[in-house]
Amino acid sequence: MNIPDIIIAIDGYSSTGKSTLAKLIAEEYSFLYLDSGAMYRGVTLNALENGIIDSEGKIDEDRLKESLKTLDLDFRVDGTYIGDRRVEHDIRTLEVSSHVSPVSAIPFVRAFVDERLHAFGLRKRVVMDGRDIGTTVFPEAEIKIFMVARPEVRAQRRFDEMEAKGQNPVMEDVMKNLMERDYIDSHREVSPLSRAADAYVLDNSDMTLHEETVWFQGLTQGKFGILE
Ligand code: DC
Repeated sequence: MNIPDIIIAIDGYSSTGKSTLAKLIAEEYSFLYLDSGAMYRGVTLNALENGIIDSEGKIDEDRLKESLKTLDLDFRVDGTYIGDRRVEHDIRTLEVSSHVSPVSAIPFVRAFVDERLHAFGLRKRVVMDGRDIGTTVFPEAEIKIFMVARPEVRAQRRFDEMEAKGQNPVMEDVMKNLMERDYIDSHREVSPLSRAADAYVLDNSDMTLHEETVWFQGLTQGKFGILE
């Protein structure tokens, strides 16, 4: 199946499998995959490592703003980089996960990330996942998907992911972090997580990955009148 040169926006709650589906679509249809959450995670990791967030979680916003002036955050084929350092693993620890939502709620942080995401989007043939891609970053995206799944399914997925990476997760902490992030992400003032009116909802709680890709194919065929 040939998909035209479009932007695909995949938004939704944490650990609903957005990146897994986005990566599959990117691979299958030769699209560029962009993980917008990785940018917020990169900003957060840099802030933690430079003492801009203290042990109680308080963010020094003046210093954070200053740090963004020189923060060289980039996507390369093999993941997220800060300068020449590949931070793909370091941005996915529970420590970063527990501070990323408040950091991403700060308007100047969102402006910093949006500017970078827009530059990538100009190329088209892009599939981007996040919280506000279909509502704010690319409201003109031709296909918008909003992903949901039951909390216990999401917590188990995150737990398995962390274990596979050699971390030592505690289920209670993982669930607590998910709930906190759901709340902050959907209640912040700037670009809160919400479904765009024209987004298709995908609840994958009881779906296999294959069923999800078949769902996507059907949606795309219908939308563009592709007979295949
Ligand atoms: O998708 P993720 O869990 O890696 O995202 C990490 C955090 O970044 C998430 O809790 C909220 C924030 N985020 C956001 O505010 N807007 C986006 N487009 C993507 C992520």
